[in-house]
Amino acid sequence: MKKKLDKKIIIEVSDLSKSFNDNIILKNINFKLVEGESLAIIGASGSGKSVLLKNIIGLLKPDNGSIKINNTEMVNISRNAKEKILLELGITFQHGALFDSLKNWENIIFKIANKEKINNQQGKKLAISIIKQLGLQPNILDLYPSEISGGMQKRVAIARAICGSPKILLFDEPTSGLDPVTGSLIDELIKTAVKTIGGSAITITHDMASVCRIADKVILIDKQTISWSGTPQEMFRSKNPKIQEFVKPINPKEFFK
Ligand SMILES: Nc1ncnc2c1ncn2[C@@H]1O[C@H](COP(=O)(O)OP(=O)(O)OP(=O)(O)O)[C@@H](O)[C@H]1O
Ligand SMILES: [Mg+2]
Repeated sequence: MKKKLDKKIIIEVSDLSKSFNDNIILKNINFKLVEGESLAIIGASGSGKSVLLKNIIGLLKPDNGSIKINNTEMVNISRNAKEKILLELGITFQHGALFDSLKNWENIIFKIANKEKINNQQGKKLAISIIKQLGLQPNILDLYPSEISGGMQKRVAIARAICGSPKILLFDEPTSGLDPVTGSLIDELIKTAVKTIGGSAITITHDMASVCRIADKVILIDKQTISWSGTPQEMFRSKNPKIQEFVKPINPKEFFK
């Protein structure tokens, strides 16, 4: 019999715990993101989703546990080695985190411009090709982040994350504050990035319609740990009361045959 080929593990989080002083936020978190997978992380506000993401990318240091990205241990990694790995990821933060002093197009091509020399004309051309998929007009490129709306800033941050087609995407609330049409555009973009370029994505979201559209797998953070995991379809059959609360407003027939 043919042996089933194991998929490559892109991110592996093992026994991760994180507290702030005596306040335990995360305890014994274990999960894997495999190649080609889109993983959604859900959980109540304040459950520790953003803290988990910040631990994964090394902005916060876990008290215990291991985080491997493409087999490299991120905990206690040197600053240089960490920065090299982060350049290969596409990350958006919950609160935008654009560089205020850079124009929008400079924000978008920031990572690429760090790696290779490109002139203004090439940079803007690249930025235009990316923002087109996000329903943004080229006239925003020469403005600064403070001169565009919150929803536009969110999309510029997503454009910055996907510039250079990184194979690992980490998004914290990419559709929050966006209208449903723009939200769907972002969902499409995440799906395309995962399915067509063979990438892998972790998306933290409260948007359950988005979970149904983009995720292969869902994990719920509750009471400091992963209290449920499964596919989006399995959420609708789950007896877990928290999961039931999350899916209550959603009609599965809209998403699954
Ligand atoms: N740097 C920090 N210092 C102390 N406490 C922190 C810090 N960062 C986060 N926290 C606490 O950790 C808890 C989890 O925060 P986190 O931002 O991860 O929640 P979340 O699940 O992302 O919530 P939301 O859905 O509202 O974004 C909160 O109680 C928060 O106050
Ligand atoms: Mg958060």
